[in-house]
Amino acid sequence: MKSKKIIFSGIKPSGAIHLGNYFGAIRQWIELQKEYQGIFCIVDYHAITVDYNPKEMQARILGVAADYIAAGIDPKKSIIFVQSQVPEHTELAWILNTIIPIGELQRMTQYKEKAQKQQSVNAGLLNYPVLMASDILLYKAIGVPVGDDQVQHVELTRTIARIFNRKFGFVFPEPKVILSRGSRIMSLADPNKKMSKDLGEKHYIALSDSPAIIKEKIAKAVTDVGPQPTGGKKSPGVTNLFELLELMGDSKNVEKFEREYKQGKLHYQELKEILADDLIKYLTEFRKKREELLKDSKKVKKILEEGAKEAQKIAKETLKEVKEKMGLI
Ligand code: TYM
Repeated sequence: MKSKKIIFSGIKPSGAIHLGNYFGAIRQWIELQKEYQGIFCIVDYHAITVDYNPKEMQARILGVAADYIAAGIDPKKSIIFVQSQVPEHTELAWILNTIIPIGELQRMTQYKEKAQKQQSVNAGLLNYPVLMASDILLYKAIGVPVGDDQVQHVELTRTIARIFNRKFGFVFPEPKVILSRGSRIMSLADPNKKMSKDLGEKHYIALSDSPAIIKEKIAKAVTDVGPQPTGGKKSPGVTNLFELLELMGDSKNVEKFEREYKQGKLHYQELKEILADDLIKYLTEFRKKREELLKDSKKVKKILEEGAKEAQKIAKETLKEVKEKMGLI
């Protein structure tokens, strides 16, 4: 295991995992775990930077773990664990907080967006990308497979690594962002915004949604407003539906609908019906596995405990190196 290069990524347990998380992140993890040592985290300390219900947290964590495994992350190959079970993450985050200028954090797009929506902004929201840098750097990951919205945070991680190495001596390689083809899936109800759990139910399709719900959500997806333009550029909603079809590999229907679109003859209802059917088929196996896993939550918890032990071995080594360089031990 040690000889393989490490890639690291994570998802917040703040709701159901949706198609954006899947096509932007998880689907590439499944491929990458063949070649790299994958470390895939459930980042609960990131999830608590906004309001949440403590009573739901444990179920959400288990839900995300089941999502990872059911989607194809293999616990025999990859490490799956919960961030708060490896306290080295917050320890290194504190250290990194002392070397990053506040201005670098204040200019983060996600911080600005989230802060705008809140009456009072907690310090955790500002420091969020420092904890994320700590997640990545603790494992000296060389690659971080994420969606488009996390690119800025990975770039900041590179900056933090550089500042640390310059100040105290080389410890951290600078991780590269790894983007997939589906790195920015848009909301169904408001296709000018990215698909997100925060926007509400009608905006996303969860991997665990039932066939009936998938059909309903796709049927209501926004396409064009007004008459269909002939030959022109597709609206964001239509582009998004085409992209989903393409991501599932339905090139036959993509070609057919492209042709019809150019001729101004595309029936959105047909496109939606085929897309919904494709999605339902695509997710059937996943849904079955997920249900089985959730019936056996002991097994999932065991995977998480073992994952945390494995992760901690690496994390402890890096933290020791960091503290030595800093004169703390
Ligand atoms: P989170 O939980 O918001 O999202 C998890 C992953 O899903 C991707 N994603 C999308 N990709 C394509 N289209 C979308 N509409 C879409 N929405 C979300 C995200 O880019 C992400 O890859 N800060 C991170 C979690 C994190 C992390 C880390 C990631 C914490 N520490 C270390 C990588 C490495 C986040 O909030 O992701």
